[in-house]
Amino acid sequence: MTESKIPAYNDGYNENGSDGIEEASDGYRFRKLSGRLMPPYVTPLRYAQSRDVQMLDSDISFCSFPKSGSTWLSQILLLLINGGANPDKGTLRQHMIWMEASWPFPKSLDVVDSMESPRLFKSHMPIEMALGGGPAKQAGKFIYIARNPKDVCVSYFHFETEKAWAGNFNCSWDHWFERFISGQVQRGSWFDHVVGWQREIPSNLLLLTYEDLLLKFDNTVVKIAEFLGIKLTKKMLRQIEKNSSFDRMRASEFANMHEVEQLGSFYRKGKIGSWKEHFSVSQNDRMDQLISEHLHHVAFDFTYETD
Ligand code: A3P
Repeated sequence: MTESKIPAYNDGYNENGSDGIEEASDGYRFRKLSGRLMPPYVTPLRYAQSRDVQMLDSDISFCSFPKSGSTWLSQILLLLINGGANPDKGTLRQHMIWMEASWPFPKSLDVVDSMESPRLFKSHMPIEMALGGGPAKQAGKFIYIARNPKDVCVSYFHFETEKAWAGNFNCSWDHWFERFISGQVQRGSWFDHVVGWQREIPSNLLLLTYEDLLLKFDNTVVKIAEFLGIKLTKKMLRQIEKNSSFDRMRASEFANMHEVEQLGSFYRKGKIGSWKEHFSVSQNDRMDQLISEHLHHVAFDFTYETD
């Protein structure tokens, strides 16, 4: 399906090279935009363009803090708008528009303007930095997906460690945990991100959780289809379930992301509760304390473990 691999990230792919990129003593590489840590490939120019984009009524944008199930959601959305099957050409990533990123599939504004409806926009920005200013200021439909912070913290640790294109983090789990809870990871504080996105819920914003997709797949996909105004048959729902399953996505050339070097291990566990393999008792207590301080009034209902 893909002719050649997209090379692993290096700063040369940015319009301004390594300018503005910082490297901490634990190896973590990032740049700062609006006071938050961002991946090196989220450049000032790309970010500015992502803020200026004008959404159409037919556009669909999804956003999340990294490692919250956004790739899974993107597969479900693509299947929903495509009658339950994957498009014949390209790969999952190629069908998304990721305005804030200069890598791995940058699209010029002309290309974005000329893409067929419905366009699918991906973003990992906090609400203050959202695509086009966010749902309250834009046409189109927005979906925000969140996942419990313990599993996000662990999934992000594996994702960011020792890969040139990610954070290149090169230190211990304990050190990562401190980074995560103090908001010193790319995209900033998980708590600010999740609380910020549900502070105002206009009618063109749907809030979802990763856990809902895992535990209540049918209801959640029906909810997404209704929100998008897509007619969903039982047959389509079964096709979507099959084509978006963890095993199918991990194995399929369309979704496995092997077209990008070093992205082969993207599909790691796909479960609730893998935080238990990493968290110490005291880390768990500290995270629980933060959860009770920050999340007592949020709309999300997270599940942290299953039987
Ligand atoms: P784990 O690292 O816990 O396995 P994102 O796409 O936002 O980066 O999120 C990645 C997380 O979603 C990873 O979690 C990944 O395995 C999981 N994931 C991806 N596709 C999935 C699917 N079809 N079903 C369940 N989980 C999936």
